[in-house]
Amino acid sequence: MKAARIHAYGDRGSVAVEEVPVPEVGPDEVLIRVAAASINPLDLKLIGGGLDTYFPLSFPYALGTDLAGIVERAGPLAARWRPGDRVIARPDPVRGGAFAEFAAVPAAWIAPAPTTLPLTTAAGLPTAAGTAWQALFETAHLKAGQTVLVHAGAGGVGSAAVQLARVAGARVVATGSGANAELLRRLGAAQVIDYRTEDFAAQLRDVDVVLDTIGGETQHRSFAVLRPGGVLASIASPPDEALARAHGVSAPFVFHQTDATRLGLAVGLCDAGSLTVVVDREHSLEELAAALDHVASGHARGKVLIRPA
Ligand SMILES: NC(=O)c1ccc[n+]([C@@H]2O[C@H](COP(=O)([O-])OP(=O)(O)OC[C@H]3O[C@@H](n4cnc5c(N)ncnc54)[C@H](OP(=O)(O)O)[C@@H]3O)[C@@H](O)[C@H]2O)c1
Repeated sequence: MKAARIHAYGDRGSVAVEEVPVPEVGPDEVLIRVAAASINPLDLKLIGGGLDTYFPLSFPYALGTDLAGIVERAGPLAARWRPGDRVIARPDPVRGGAFAEFAAVPAAWIAPAPTTLPLTTAAGLPTAAGTAWQALFETAHLKAGQTVLVHAGAGGVGSAAVQLARVAGARVVATGSGANAELLRRLGAAQVIDYRTEDFAAQLRDVDVVLDTIGGETQHRSFAVLRPGGVLASIASPPDEALARAHGVSAPFVFHQTDATRLGLAVGLCDAGSLTVVVDREHSLEELAAALDHVASGHARGKVLIRPA
């Protein structure tokens, strides 16, 4: 089969699509014929070695941490999955393997695919919706009636977060460039702030929750918009604890952990028509370099998908 691999930490140019054996399936694992995978900024960080402390890779390393596909066969402990099942999965980043024709994934990281989305589109769900859900509801405990500021609302995580927060009954304020304002409103943002021309920190006060997807100066300036006791949940970089104390807020860093039950709940929302995946573009596996370049630009509009066949 074909798979995208690296043989050492390096740059995007070191990724090669190679012929490799179909992966072995462990007793609690499922072999999935990949319909599509989706790219995350995480993939770029893994290629560069920047996350070696958290995710020490062994080489050759097969890339890709988000996929949707059809079950080909299941190990004896994964018998709940049957050949032909439509599934989505988020392989452990240390293991990777989604940018390939087949992937072997532990059953605990798999959920049924939404019936209302094409499988290819569903590949954009696991990391984006899983991270947004974990940050908003399990970490920041966002409630109906509260106001949440979602930075980069048009990105992969942001576009899921805007929809999920709206479904939960929160008032959503999203930052994005002007070109994405209409998309953000359609996804559920009550207020859109163009970060290129407007200062969100000058416009907002008493926000209950900030979802920080940017870090740096954006994170720093976000403390001032929170009410006392509010939560700045960052998925971009660990916030400054002294600054959080000075503002009387909490500021946890969120490290996405795959949870098939959570993923199943997100799938249920898709099937209920309350959540969808914003697709920026699709590329073949051979076009992976161009797809990675686009994600690396920092301006993907939703998810960038890879189709192995
Ligand atoms: N901690 C974790 O477990 C975890 C999990 C998932 C993701 N992450 C991290 O979270 C970050 C976001 O991930 P993602 O997948 O959502 O990224 P993404 O899809 O690549 O985000 C792209 C979006 O960011 C927007 N953007 C860029 N600069 C902005 C700014 N200054 N203000 C507001 N919006 C801006 C762009 O909008 P315009 O085109 O309109 O500029 C674009 O829509 C990445 O650093 C990723 O590694 C962490």
